[in-house]
Amino acid sequence: MAILSWLGLGLLTTPLALFKLNPYSYQQISFNRGSYEGHQRPVISPDLEAYIQQTLTKSNVPGLSLAIVPKDGEPEFRSWGNMTDDGEKTTPETLFHLASVSKAFVASSLGILIDDFANGRNTSALPPGLSQFTWKTKLRDILPDEWELMDEWASEKVNIHDILSHVTGMPRHDYSYGPNDTPIDVVRRLKHLRPAYELREKYSYNNQMFLVGAHIVSTYAKPYTQFVEERIFAPLGMTSTTFSPSQAAASGKFTQAWTKHGRLLPEWFNEDIAQLNAGPGAVISSTSDMSKWINMWLNSGIYMNKTIIPLSAFENITTAYSITFGKPENAKNSIGGYGMGWFRSSYQGHDVIYHTGSIPGFSTRVSVVQPSASQDGLGIIVFANADDKAETVANISDRVMEDALHIRGFSEAFD
Ligand SMILES: *[C@@H]1O[C@H](CO)[C@@H](O)[C@H](O)[C@H]1NC(C)=O
Ligand SMILES: *[C@@H]1O[C@H](CO)[C@@H](O)[C@H](O)[C@H]1NC(C)=O
Ligand SMILES: *[C@@H]1O[C@H](CO)[C@@H](O)[C@H](O)[C@H]1NC(C)=O
Ligand SMILES: *[C@@H]1O[C@H](CO)[C@@H](O)[C@H](O)[C@H]1NC(C)=O
Ligand SMILES: *[C@@H]1O[C@H](CO)[C@@H](O)[C@H](O)[C@H]1NC(C)=O
Repeated sequence: MAILSWLGLGLLTTPLALFKLNPYSYQQISFNRGSYEGHQRPVISPDLEAYIQQTLTKSNVPGLSLAIVPKDGEPEFRSWGNMTDDGEKTTPETLFHLASVSKAFVASSLGILIDDFANGRNTSALPPGLSQFTWKTKLRDILPDEWELMDEWASEKVNIHDILSHVTGMPRHDYSYGPNDTPIDVVRRLKHLRPAYELREKYSYNNQMFLVGAHIVSTYAKPYTQFVEERIFAPLGMTSTTFSPSQAAASGKFTQAWTKHGRLLPEWFNEDIAQLNAGPGAVISSTSDMSKWINMWLNSGIYMNKTIIPLSAFENITTAYSITFGKPENAKNSIGGYGMGWFRSSYQGHDVIYHTGSIPGFSTRVSVVQPSASQDGLGIIVFANADDKAETVANISDRVMEDALHIRGFSEAFD
């Protein structure tokens, strides 16, 4: 079961305290906020390429794929290094495990399902006594035969919003379940696991709650993976994206993965692990496919004039509900919060939603700089095929953001 501790790492991602505080930084931010306009491309310059190459070499990362996604128009793609041990190169089509970057798919699916119920498009009925399904619906009401926590008060009061915002009071109990379990086993076992906090006392990251979220979709619509394929992957044209490691491998585009010191890892993430962890962390995708998903987040849930995620769901999912970092860790980042499957904070005055992922062999990060009156917004996708490289992908992502927003010269004032 220890094999599952990986998702636990999904959070090792906070930008670290890398910069000295500069007493003048506040004034400087207000003088030059920076901006990105879709037409100011390409962002990827020889200088940026050199920085990334140097960072990868220094960090011992075999392969990386990057996409920079504008609100309208074509993304920029670039890849570095190897996809396989015999030297096949990474490309924008190379498939990576997203790890915890998968979590936003659970929140989105529940948002779609809530909207289905609100508009009479549901294909099954709610349990007797429950007349509507919303973010505030209690777990005890939606999973009456399965849901129970050790803490009686929490057991009764926890709602959908709470489970997807990491405020149920449960700590990571990642060693309490394994590949031979079904989602129902995991739900039923929750009552034996000790809470670390009271309900809504504090943010406390927990993967099992995303497994519970996926299980609700499976219970009231169709198997979670099929729901995501039909309602999200297909309408976005994410044709290479899958929950199935064997399907990814059969495509010939699935990257191999390496330890942090550069040793090739054996295949370990099998179909059973993928099925069980579909919610918290089993999407496999490429920067090419994910640029479509990210473009949708830049456009409030709409892709190519098609609503994928209803607006009220988009707002609920991306708005912070719990506090992750109550004070800024450094001069560049603001305090931070967590919505549902997305962190939210600002970077040098720019409002950003992001998530990170970390499992053995993979380090991922996606960010969406929110469009504002003064700029267009952009998405940044960074996938690396090496273990424990959260800081490397964060550095690359931050540097891309600085170059895209023209705030790099400015940011050096922090050093
Ligand atoms: C890519 O693979 C080739 C062939 O195995 C090897 O020589 C090279 O060092 C690898 N590059 C990286 C960045 O690992
Ligand atoms: C949709 O949900 C409502 C509320 O539970 C229920 O009355 C109705 O029968 C459901 N529709 C279908 C097709 O199951
Ligand atoms: C979206 O709708 C607008 C306005 O109707 C239209 O001009 C545009 O071509 C459409 N875009 C796509 C990608 O269908
Ligand atoms: C959140 O969702 C609820 C429906 O569950 C909706 O009434 C509300 O307006 C949404 N909130 C936002 C900020 O859109
Ligand atoms: C990340 O950037 C900081 C600040 O430039 C640097 O000190 C640190 O070594 C970098 N880490 C990696 C892994 O590149």
